[in-house]
Amino acid sequence: MKGLFITIEGPDGAGKSTQIRLLKEYFKNQGKDIIVTREPGGTDISEKIRDIILDNDNITMADTTEALLYAASRAQHVHEKIIPALKEGKIVICDRFVHSSLVYQGIARGLGIEEVRYINDFAIEGIKPDVTLFFDIYPEIALKRKTKNNKGDRLENEKADFHQRVYEGYKKLIDKYPDEFNVIDATKSIDEIHKDIVKILSTI
Ligand code: TYD
Repeated sequence: MKGLFITIEGPDGAGKSTQIRLLKEYFKNQGKDIIVTREPGGTDISEKIRDIILDNDNITMADTTEALLYAASRAQHVHEKIIPALKEGKIVICDRFVHSSLVYQGIARGLGIEEVRYINDFAIEGIKPDVTLFFDIYPEIALKRKTKNNKGDRLENEKADFHQRVYEGYKKLIDKYPDEFNVIDATKSIDEIHKDIVKILSTI
């Protein structure tokens, strides 16, 4: 495929959105054709699935249901948006992708990395990110930043130990698959983080 597929990973509130905005500007200024998208979501159907997943009323949702809904949302997203854009040679920046499911559902919910990888392999039609940036920041700092001004969705409102498991899950996944991640120190200033990201992307 001709394009470049960049995925962004990290705990809730790690500052991904700000950096994605800056990165989009950066590529636009270079005259590159770029789309920014997110998971769960990215297409009309996927956004509807997102609403079900994140609805605060759905506290009885089974972990397996949650994992399958994320994979279903992703399947539509890959099929309808990501693959066509990459085929057209575009840069695709995606806020979260399969690694999020491996960590949140596979490790933090305890469904198993391999089990969750398996259902996702079925969903993604064989595509893989060219680069994955992991925003490394301790969950307590990240969440404090994020929920300061809003009441949070179902996942954000999980107890602190869930977010701890998410953070440790990322670390575990990075240890297991170091080649799949570029680690960004997300405790730095907005400017410094942007520079670090540009530096990494200039090497690929
Ligand atoms: P999102 O709204 O992107 O939150 P954030 O701004 O923190 O990235 O994602 C919603 C939540 O869904 C977030 O808590 C992470 C979670 N999530 C999973 O549990 N599994 C997944 O596969 C994805 C893509 C997200």
